[in-house]
Amino acid sequence: MCGIFGAISDNHNILPTLLNGLEQLEYRGYDSAGIAFISNGRTERIRAVGRVENLRNEASRYQGSIAIGHTRWATHGGVSVENAHPHQSHHLMIVHNGIIDAYEEHKKRLIQKGYAFESETDTEVLAHLLHEATLNNADLISAVKQVIATVTGNYALLVMDQNDPTSLIATAQGCPLILGLKDDTTFIASDIAAIIPETNRLIYLEQGDCVIMQAGNIAYFSNQAEQVLSPIAISEKIQISDLSIEKLDIGHYTHFMLKEIFEQPHVIEKTALKAITQQFDPELFGEKAVTLFPQVKHIQILACGTSYFAGMVAKYWIESIAKIPTHVEISSEYRYREVLIEDGTMIVTISQSGETLDTIEAKKHAEENGAFASLAICNVKESVLPRTSDCRLYTEAGIEVGVASTKAFTTQLTALFILANALAKSQGKMDETTLSKHLQMLRELPAMIAQSFNCQEIASQWGTLLLNAKSTLYLGRGIHFPIAAEGALKLKEISYIHAESYPAGELKHGPLALVDDQMPIIALLPHDDLFEKVRANLHEVLARKGKLFIITDSKVPLDDLKGAHIMHVPEVSCALSPILLTIPVQLIAYYAALVRGEDIDKPRNLAKSLTVE
Ligand code: G6P
Repeated sequence: MCGIFGAISDNHNILPTLLNGLEQLEYRGYDSAGIAFISNGRTERIRAVGRVENLRNEASRYQGSIAIGHTRWATHGGVSVENAHPHQSHHLMIVHNGIIDAYEEHKKRLIQKGYAFESETDTEVLAHLLHEATLNNADLISAVKQVIATVTGNYALLVMDQNDPTSLIATAQGCPLILGLKDDTTFIASDIAAIIPETNRLIYLEQGDCVIMQAGNIAYFSNQAEQVLSPIAISEKIQISDLSIEKLDIGHYTHFMLKEIFEQPHVIEKTALKAITQQFDPELFGEKAVTLFPQVKHIQILACGTSYFAGMVAKYWIESIAKIPTHVEISSEYRYREVLIEDGTMIVTISQSGETLDTIEAKKHAEENGAFASLAICNVKESVLPRTSDCRLYTEAGIEVGVASTKAFTTQLTALFILANALAKSQGKMDETTLSKHLQMLRELPAMIAQSFNCQEIASQWGTLLLNAKSTLYLGRGIHFPIAAEGALKLKEISYIHAESYPAGELKHGPLALVDDQMPIIALLPHDDLFEKVRANLHEVLARKGKLFIITDSKVPLDDLKGAHIMHVPEVSCALSPILLTIPVQLIAYYAALVRGEDIDKPRNLAKSLTVE
């Protein structure tokens, strides 16, 4: 959530680059935006509610070679120009992601000292704290270090000082910041997407690191070392990214969400590649996995949002393939309750971003209560969760721009299927035949997904049929119930149609009361062990005149379900069917939102990653 971007260059106008970069970050938060820069020796600030686009007109009147910018997703304080970043204290301007703990206490004290506040944000508190610290420190970097030693929280911070138009200062405490190095320009951003159009020479800041950025030059203060890093030490930190600007481009698609849906065969193949060649070797999860996996007796999965639904599917796989009892819980619930952790419990966190605060805190809570090992399934390399876990497997989804998660979800599922198999293998619970069968399923999966795109036309027709729906019900059973839940989440996120998901067998215990001739019900009916049970549940719906939409791979005629809309998908009856059945529910949500003219890639009130509670 929220995006930071800053740049300092040798005498050329950096403002157009800054605005373009900020637009790349909009998917992280887009309710307001702002920039500050020094132009002709004066600090200027432009802020607006809404998109980065709204800053362009005014910005075009200026030139500046040092600038900071921010796209916001409101947390402390509503959506207003006053609450938009950058925030100012005297000669300082700052942009900030994350949270400052107990900021009200600092605020009270600062007000008593005479500081005036114009916003409700914790960021403005940070700006004044920094200004206060400059009064008794020789230079800004010392003031920044003093402030980060006194405040707590997870944050990333970028400071511009009118008194020194040759430098920017950045520091990261638990929120991502990445430096981009180009000949005469230095960039910093909370996300690689802003930097890649300019350079692929990157340094990922580690917790507590501080940097003084100058045009084409940096002074790097590692949290691990008192002294500024030597040029050799800095060059060792530089990573060359293979992400290209083309990969960030929307191409011929109308929305990133659609592009990302169609990328799934490729990114799933990439995620599965090593697992296939190394035949589910535990080492795929890092060196420690080799000794830790055989000791795992219980698994506790922690995740939020779409990642939580991936966890629900994983429970079925881990229990059936590796025979390890597995619990799944929403991180924001788990972190605040008394937990009883069984001996030999490994925590598995699932997170696209690797920086979701609730999941980070839930993991800490589990560790404090006795979990013996941790493992992260994550898409963003080197983010907090994989960095702080004993074992990890990165999904290869690449940057996901659409706020509604699609390819991140199916690559998580792929990684979790690999985990179930690697655990089974390390504990000697899988025979050779099963191992080969599961490897073969993974090999075939990308092509099967590509085949399932055949449902696009029908999904688009169904999207139109949902145009005036007020509320919908998604049904599934067993391992497919989480996919029904993910389908309902997708629909409400981007089309704003209310959607609820229910295990089909539970229908009679309540939701059936909602069913009438206005209520669309979208049901997953794969030809698995529960086929007949679900079919019977669907008769209950038809008997109440519900508008039934069935997604099935059944070759068995469904003539008995008269009046139902039926979408046939390719034969999915294998352990990986949850991944295949995800494609139609993603496409239905996409087309329902499209026909309603909604802002599909940037749904209202939502953000891509949530670094606050
Ligand atoms: C937000 C995003 C969701 C995501 C959830 C968890 O709500 O909009 O798409 O599933 O956070 O994020 P994570 O990065 O931990 O997977």
